[in-house]
Amino acid sequence: MRALVYHGPGVKAWQEVPKPELIDDTDAIVRVDTTTICGSDLHILEGDLPEVTDGRILGHEAVGTVEEVGTSVKNMRPGDRVLVSCITACGRCRYCRESRYGQCVGGGGWILGHLIDGTQAEYVRVPFADNSTYAVPAGVSDDDVLMLADIVPTGFEVGVLNGHVQPGDVVAVVGAGPVGLSAIMGARLFTPRLVIAIDLADSRLDAAKRFGADVVVNNSRQDPLEVVRGLSAGLGADVAIEAVGTPDTFELATTLIRPCGHLANIGVHGKPVTLHLESLWSADVTITTGLVDTSSIPTLLSLLSGHQLDVSGFATHHFEMNDVVGAYDTFANAGDTGALKIILAAHSDPSPQE
Ligand SMILES: NC(=O)c1ccc[n+]([C@@H]2O[C@H](COP(=O)([O-])OP(=O)(O)OC[C@H]3O[C@@H](n4cnc5c(N)ncnc54)[C@H](O)[C@@H]3O)[C@@H](O)[C@H]2O)c1
Ligand SMILES: [Zn+2]
Ligand SMILES: [Zn+2]
Repeated sequence: MRALVYHGPGVKAWQEVPKPELIDDTDAIVRVDTTTICGSDLHILEGDLPEVTDGRILGHEAVGTVEEVGTSVKNMRPGDRVLVSCITACGRCRYCRESRYGQCVGGGGWILGHLIDGTQAEYVRVPFADNSTYAVPAGVSDDDVLMLADIVPTGFEVGVLNGHVQPGDVVAVVGAGPVGLSAIMGARLFTPRLVIAIDLADSRLDAAKRFGADVVVNNSRQDPLEVVRGLSAGLGADVAIEAVGTPDTFELATTLIRPCGHLANIGVHGKPVTLHLESLWSADVTITTGLVDTSSIPTLLSLLSGHQLDVSGFATHHFEMNDVVGAYDTFANAGDTGALKIILAAHSDPSPQE
């Protein structure tokens, strides 16, 4: 089969590799019908995640068709269509028993396209398949379901739920990439008074308006603190969601929240950040961090089926999987291309078994 293989910082190739086989009786082999590229894949290619080694197949999001299952797999049969979550769950460890799959210590967590081979391939081996996949409901498109593998649960769980968004809140979202947009969309489910999106790129701010932001601020031209305070009787935001992952944006988010407010950090940080306790110590704020669990996928699938969640705006580009290298270029140049999520569809006739 063919797959996108990482060969160290800056180097990747769409190449022939052995087709995955069942290893454990809880595994499934899934034929990948659609997959996509995540900002985290770019972090890997930049060398920010040294645990990802030469030879690793990238990708941690997929919608596919079950090809083969281990003897202990009960929830699916060959031919079933499934969403493969970016997070694998052993289902048995302490964290999985509390639905905190991102922290799984039984062999799961974020492993696909990270610690084991991933989904940017014609086939993928999914460990703990019963707990790590979800049946694709009838009447929803693959492109839409694919958005629930990572970005939509991330914005919802790590941003909106951790940030404790309440009806009537003023919510400031720093960073309007796919994850920030997911947080904006997720916040809307709670009837906030105002959602304010902050980004340096006008194309992303245009997207933020489409995804439900009431006010957008380009912080290269406007002071976001002034705007947020001006719209909240001088208090600040009830909730700030950080969806970039830099020291500057985290520090900005700490200034945007009002006393007793919540700051939910989503961004993956590669550098230390200063926490200004000299001003925050008395402000009664709550700061949360998190790796997505994807425990909200059943809820989000049900909202999608019920037409209460419209994720159709994410898929800006479609490529054939064979053209994944071109797709990475388009994704990496999102400022120029306007890319949010790129759908990579399998060639209709995958290469024969070998
Ligand atoms: N915690 C988790 O479980 C989890 C899961 C997935 C992704 N992430 C992380 O979430 C973050 C966002 O992901 P994404 O895919 O949306 O990334 P992205 O790179 O597509 O979007 C980031 C946005 O931030 C904007 N930005 C950059 N610097 C800024 C600044 N100084 N001020 C305002 N805006 C600025 C960019 O213009 C861009 O629109 C990344 O750090 C990603 O690794 C975390
Ligand atoms: Zn991801
Ligand atoms: Zn576990």
